[in-house]
Amino acid sequence: MTRIAGSVQAQVWNGPLGTHWATHHARYDALVSGLDDALFEGAAIAAGDRVLDVGCGAGATTRTAGRLAAHGHAVGVDISAPLLDRARAVTVAEDVTNVAYQRGDAQSHRFPAAGYDVVISRGGVMFFADHAAAFRNLARALRPGGRLAFVCPQPAGPHLEESRALSLFARLLDAPDAHTAAAQTAMASLSDPARIREVLEGWDEVSVTPVGTETVWGRDAADAVGFILSRTPGRAVDAVTRTTLEDTLRPYETDRGVRLRAAVWLVTAKRSPSLQA
Ligand SMILES: C[S@@+](CC[C@H](N)C(=O)[O-])C[C@H]1O[C@@H](n2cnc3c(N)ncnc32)[C@H](O)[C@@H]1O
Repeated sequence: MTRIAGSVQAQVWNGPLGTHWATHHARYDALVSGLDDALFEGAAIAAGDRVLDVGCGAGATTRTAGRLAAHGHAVGVDISAPLLDRARAVTVAEDVTNVAYQRGDAQSHRFPAAGYDVVISRGGVMFFADHAAAFRNLARALRPGGRLAFVCPQPAGPHLEESRALSLFARLLDAPDAHTAAAQTAMASLSDPARIREVLEGWDEVSVTPVGTETVWGRDAADAVGFILSRTPGRAVDAVTRTTLEDTLRPYETDRGVRLRAAVWLVTAKRSPSLQA
């Protein structure tokens, strides 16, 4: 068993934000699927591998991992009940048969010792209360020499289109609710490469590589603004502000949606054989 109920992030991801992610899972997946090539290249999943996907959300990357693992399998772990419900439903609908999900806090969940060959995460490892403890727990879940690959955001800054647009949004809108603020703060918790290396102390071959990407926010500016505003139900936005928000995104409209340049770290490492499981 694992402790879930008490943590702030458990409340966040089992509350309205988690429900929003579950309801709009395809949209969130499209938002960040530009990270998948880097993530799966770093993970180098081979047929027969046993893969653990940390903070799997609605399971898009878990299912990709399952397909790559072929006669192996993939397990997604997440603290969010609504997202796991969605993950299971989509997995059945897509008829992916070598994928399963577990609800748990990956920081303390009792995974089978050395039970996995690869641990992956697309933006699901920034939310731990104690990152060093969490990565020690994930190391125990990996076999000696097993691989870790995750992506997490680089520091926000005016050089990135996504940061510029979202900071303008933040200036024009009321302060976010407590759950959204807690999620936003946690999102940035591993943006400093020195911090990443600190929490991966004891791992072998730690590599932190910058990866440029584009996040896709909607079909057009109006659609993207509608989606962003829907994350805070009941927020009143006057017509002038809405138009200003749409104008902010209009320069980024393309025939493949509203695309904003962003940047992440691809982090890879190996479990040291000297670590005791
Ligand atoms: C930004 S979302 C990413 C979801 C998914 N990886 C994706 O790319 O669509 C972060 C996910 O991490 C999960 N999460 C947060 N803290 C966690 C923890 N301590 N243990 C397991 N999952 C956690 C959340 O419930 C959420 O599904």
